[in-house]
Amino acid sequence: MAVPPNPSHNDRLPIKTVAAAAWFRQTSGNFQSARTESMKSVPKQQLPDFLRGLPKAELHIHIEGSLEPELIFALAQRNGVTLPYDSVEALRAAYAFSDLQSFLDIYYAGASVLLHEADFFDMAWAYFLRAQADNVIHAELFFDPQTHTARGVAFDTVINGLRRACEKAEAELGIHAGLILCFLRHLSEAEAFETLAQARPHLGKFIGVGLDSSERGHPPEKFARVFADARALGLRVVAHAGEEGPPEYIWSALDVLKAERIDHGVQAVNDPMLMQRLAAERIPLTVCPLSNVKLCVFKDMKDHSLRQLLDAGLVVTINSDDPAYFGGYINQNFLETFAALDLDASHAVTLARNSFEASFVDEAQKRRYFDTLDAYCA
Ligand code: ADE
Ligand code: ZN
Repeated sequence: MAVPPNPSHNDRLPIKTVAAAAWFRQTSGNFQSARTESMKSVPKQQLPDFLRGLPKAELHIHIEGSLEPELIFALAQRNGVTLPYDSVEALRAAYAFSDLQSFLDIYYAGASVLLHEADFFDMAWAYFLRAQADNVIHAELFFDPQTHTARGVAFDTVINGLRRACEKAEAELGIHAGLILCFLRHLSEAEAFETLAQARPHLGKFIGVGLDSSERGHPPEKFARVFADARALGLRVVAHAGEEGPPEYIWSALDVLKAERIDHGVQAVNDPMLMQRLAAERIPLTVCPLSNVKLCVFKDMKDHSLRQLLDAGLVVTINSDDPAYFGGYINQNFLETFAALDLDASHAVTLARNSFEASFVDEAQKRRYFDTLDAYCA
């Protein structure tokens, strides 16, 4: 059942709003007002370097979407998988998308080269090296187990390869990393339950659950019971909503799934009440600007709603989604968004700070991240 877009529906709102605002005041100190404002004086020509060097968290990256064509071909050769493309160039040339589904068809085909634990490790390690180059110091990675278990790859193979890469990233690159298991929303509730059962012996290896794949026609309500079970297991909860789908899906991701962050959420601008709620409760949006342009959610980066969301006080973050398919990693997203929307260094600091605030780490770790950001701005 769809939850109507009416905040009076949500009896948690006042308590959560007060708590969110109090937390924000307490942890922000003078940083937000004084330091952020002073950043406006960073000259425009220095902005690209400032963005590149900014310490940041990436919270919306599908690890299967980081598979570069070169790695797809290398893994295909290693595993004896035949691809329907003759060359890296031919595969890259196919990356012209008209909407989310046209991308997903190619994305799932690309993932077919992943068979062994080493393949999952290599894919994630390649991402971490790129992330380090972009000054990502914290990353929460989505993975899609159903894409692999449907092909006969064991859940253990997937998660053990990814986990090993996370541990190496922490030890050797200083990147703190977590995994978020995504249920494919075009599949059934029963299949999601089966995946959660496969994941149960591995509870210490991932931090939360999410919901991705084809959004239209697959509202969050379809997975209400699966997410209730995941929450009962102590898992954190996020969901893709309002990427192509309507603001109503954001309401139900919050009210039915109890999502703590909304992935994309860019359609919220079409619902003023929702905007008010997201700002008041400080519910983060993990926005992926290059993805939105490549999947024709916005015709041009200049039309992107990110600045409206930011100006309305929402906890917006910038992320890469599927960087191998959409023309760039997180820094490229920052660079193109800032150029198109005329943002300055004060916005950059707010976005980086938001990314740490929105991350699933404890308060002590958040403070360390804020201190790192503060030192960068000093
Ligand atoms: N899976 C990978 N990328 C996705 C996106 N942008 N939206 C929904 N599901 C996805
Ligand atoms: Zn996504």
